[in-house]
Amino acid sequence: MLREYIHALPKVELHVHLVGSASVDTVVALAARHPSAGVPTDRAELAAFYEFRDFDHFLKVYWAVQSMLRDRGDIDVLVTGLAAELAAQNVRYAEVTVTPYNHVLDGMPGDELLAGLESGRATARDVHGVELAWVFDIPGEKGIVAGRETLTFALGERPDGLVALGLGGPEIGVGRARFEPFFTAAREAGLHSVPHAGETSGPATVWSALHDLGAERIGHGTSSAADPALLAYLAEHRIPLEVCPTSNVRTRQVASVDAHPVRRMLDHGVVVTLNTDDPPMFGATLEGEYLAVATSLGLRKSEVAALAANGVRSSFLPASRKDELLAEIAAV
Ligand code: HPA
Ligand code: ZN
Repeated sequence: MLREYIHALPKVELHVHLVGSASVDTVVALAARHPSAGVPTDRAELAAFYEFRDFDHFLKVYWAVQSMLRDRGDIDVLVTGLAAELAAQNVRYAEVTVTPYNHVLDGMPGDELLAGLESGRATARDVHGVELAWVFDIPGEKGIVAGRETLTFALGERPDGLVALGLGGPEIGVGRARFEPFFTAAREAGLHSVPHAGETSGPATVWSALHDLGAERIGHGTSSAADPALLAYLAEHRIPLEVCPTSNVRTRQVASVDAHPVRRMLDHGVVVTLNTDDPPMFGATLEGEYLAVATSLGLRKSEVAALAANGVRSSFLPASRKDELLAEIAAV
């Protein structure tokens, strides 16, 4: 019954990586074409390949899958596959993180990437009824050259649907502050700021994302829960957290969904949104995240609806579209 209620709620997804949304079928097919990537072609072996020892191990697996993407057709398959999966869960809108610098390093020309994004986005809208927007993110581990190239690509190409600049990859040893010039320039050009912070390092990283990068939402922000002053700041300034509970469990940042600090975040008045990060890699779905959190916290239906509404309000949709979705949520 809760499951049906969650399905009926119109939802948005604010934190999902395009490469990490590749379906098992797609990855198996790519692996057969690119044996040198070392990705299993057998479904059972792929499931084992997706057992992550820690966050760094997860990133290595993620990069192996990424390395098999070569042209617009590969990107189109990912985007349309993600859209179909979202539509099946009554997800109406998603802000999808794409890492152009990594694709170009792996041999995909920038115009191939853009062509695949654009054709996939049109199919998402016309065939699946799902609106997609893009977050272009900097792979932090590749340093400031990646920041410069990502910004140049984002502002030079400015594809339809591009709404924000992000920052991903490892956090330890990759201070947020060094990327300040790129986020400043992006914000001046009208893009939003949505860095990952506090996923694999402490609350100081979240403070830096806020102060140095002008973060308008925080990717994960898990470790914020250890800092009451930070929770108070996030609540007061209405800076949403893009919480991805199953991701944090599967990369072993938290022991279980029950052990996730999402309750503490909510108790401090923080705007919590629920998201999947890399759904097939983590065996996650957005409906599953809602169900897991609702069950773990014993939420009432109205509280589940409030989480869905948080997602809508925290999105970069136009106000009129937010109002429509909020009205639909209220009607469920
Ligand atoms: N964090 C950082 N980098 C990533 C992630 C993530 O959750 N997923 C894919 N790249
Ligand atoms: Zn992420």
